[in-house]
Amino acid sequence: MYVVEFARPVCYNGNVMKHVLIISASPRKAGNSDILCDEFARGAQEAGHDVEKIRLAEKDVGYCLGCYACRKLGKCFKKDDANGLVEKMMSADTIVLSTPVYFYSMDAQLKALIDRSVSRWNDFGRFTGTEFWFIVTAADGNRDMMNATLEGLRGFTRDCMDGAVERGVIYGTGAYEKGEIRNLPAMHEAYEAGKNV
Ligand SMILES: Cc1cc2nc3c(=O)[nH]c(=O)nc-3n(C[C@H](O)[C@H](O)[C@H](O)COP(=O)(O)O)c2cc1C
Repeated sequence: MYVVEFARPVCYNGNVMKHVLIISASPRKAGNSDILCDEFARGAQEAGHDVEKIRLAEKDVGYCLGCYACRKLGKCFKKDDANGLVEKMMSADTIVLSTPVYFYSMDAQLKALIDRSVSRWNDFGRFTGTEFWFIVTAADGNRDMMNATLEGLRGFTRDCMDGAVERGVIYGTGAYEKGEIRNLPAMHEAYEAGKNV
């Protein structure tokens, strides 16, 4: 039997081109975390990667009902955008999960999507080797206050996916009003992280 391996496309610097999926969960368009997502995307695009950014606020993602109809169907029975988004996550090389801190947690939009991925629980092996970045913003200037939010995200990646790789965190601390992040070091950090995908 012959096994045919196709060479993956490479970036200008010879690195393998990755499909980068950025999930921007803030309801604020051009808000602080959304801006950091754009900076990350700019860096990754300049490095030659294939980048797709999704604003969850523009998608229809309802709550998981915990009905487990997905056990028989292999996907969620709901006819909203979640099945397609989860499938996109499974085929990405790199996933950026971005959220504002809302009462020390990720926002409800991102949690809803994560919960809906339970419909593909049996396929979580496909996340082996998937690289994750977290972008988190908050009014508070202290990074430690983001720990609970990050632990929530890691409960999905580190604790539920064998072989998922956490590449880094962009701490958008000290940004309250829309756009305040533009004057803070996280801007450069997001761009550099994108370049180093
Ligand atoms: C519902 C809600 C809860 C929030 N909870 C916190 C919090 O616990 N700690 C904090 O520092 N900022 C909190 N904030 C402020 C946001 O995290 C901050 O404005 C952030 O920059 C929003 O990011 P965004 O522009 O990407 O939406 C909260 C804001 C809202 C609307």
